[in-house]
Amino acid sequence: MSDYLPFTRPAIDDETIADVAAVLRSGQLASGPKVLEFEAALAAYVGGGRTVRSLTSATEGLEIALIACGVGAGDEVIVPAMSFAASANVVVRLGAKPVFVDVELASRNLDVTRVAEAIGPRTKAIMPVHFSGLAVDLDALAALAAPRGLRIVEDAAHAIGTRHRGRPIGGFGDVAVFSFHPNKNMTTIEGGAIATTDARALELIERHRFHGIRRNADGEIDVVLAGAKSNLSDVAAQVGIHQLRRLDGFNARRRALAGLYFEALGGFDEVVLPARGDDGHSWHMFTVLIDFARRGRTRPEFQRAMAGRGIGIGVHYPCIPGLSLYRELGYRAEDFPNAARIGRETVTLPLFPAMRDEDVERVVAALRAELT
Ligand SMILES: Cc1ncc(COP(=O)(O)O)c(C=O)c1O
Repeated sequence: MSDYLPFTRPAIDDETIADVAAVLRSGQLASGPKVLEFEAALAAYVGGGRTVRSLTSATEGLEIALIACGVGAGDEVIVPAMSFAASANVVVRLGAKPVFVDVELASRNLDVTRVAEAIGPRTKAIMPVHFSGLAVDLDALAALAAPRGLRIVEDAAHAIGTRHRGRPIGGFGDVAVFSFHPNKNMTTIEGGAIATTDARALELIERHRFHGIRRNADGEIDVVLAGAKSNLSDVAAQVGIHQLRRLDGFNARRRALAGLYFEALGGFDEVVLPARGDDGHSWHMFTVLIDFARRGRTRPEFQRAMAGRGIGIGVHYPCIPGLSLYRELGYRAEDFPNAARIGRETVTLPLFPAMRDEDVERVVAALRAELT
């Protein structure tokens, strides 16, 4: 069995392809009935009386959600120091300041015990990431945010289908933003969505995602703010409708595969395993740490060696304060030791629903061969 195993691969079935073809033939391609159907299905999925609005990406969703929560120039937003750069870039793009907080080594999530010391007079919002589909302790964050009037905008890019103490992410709390990029647990090719019950925020989200247009009672167009153009297409929504139906099955398979990795890698000291979490973990990714410096080998060398064995290895993610943009803004990776270590040592092992049990064995055998 020598075929190449990528670190992730979306699962698109023939029924989806047939229904997408029907949308393409229908003549209705941009936002229309399929977008409305997809948003209603997402709202029903997360529950909690949420309204859901879809967009072209989570990056757009996070930026618009922050605007809708009143974040602007000069404000501060608390962000984990290890995440995809978009988690901080959206803050910078608004002229606001990301205030980084270190992550925990095992969960890779924002260390909530360190958030209070990062809150200052200009703090407007906290933006936790549910890294790899493991929920952050939102109850602890809400206890910090509520008395201070801070907003919590969840970067739930990895967390569609994740549950926190039994409740679906996006189905409670303040504002949650999902990603449907092809690497995520479900996809709309590119896409994202915002879930909230905040009527004022929703009004702003609607305007900001489509040119600031508001129609009067007559149906005439008015423009009330300089909005963006971030609406999802009906073609993408049709993909999402199918993916959402299969999501719980995808996530159950991801959990089973993660369980196999834990079994096969338990006791193998050359890698540091991630936190296991509970049944609410949706296992968007399975990341392990490898001490490349001690081995005198670079991560790209390791990735190339694994590719030579037919196995794709990802990197999620470098420490954000260590990226050029953020160094130029005055941040230093050394101030966030866990994020800096994860940034240096993390690798992402293959994990996607179509993987077979034997694929996990293959990955683990290759890891052992490369590392011992
Ligand atoms: C934590 C996190 N936030 C935001 C994003 C942005 O998502 P999108 O590609 O849908 O804009 C990503 C994408 O990988 C992510 O991992």
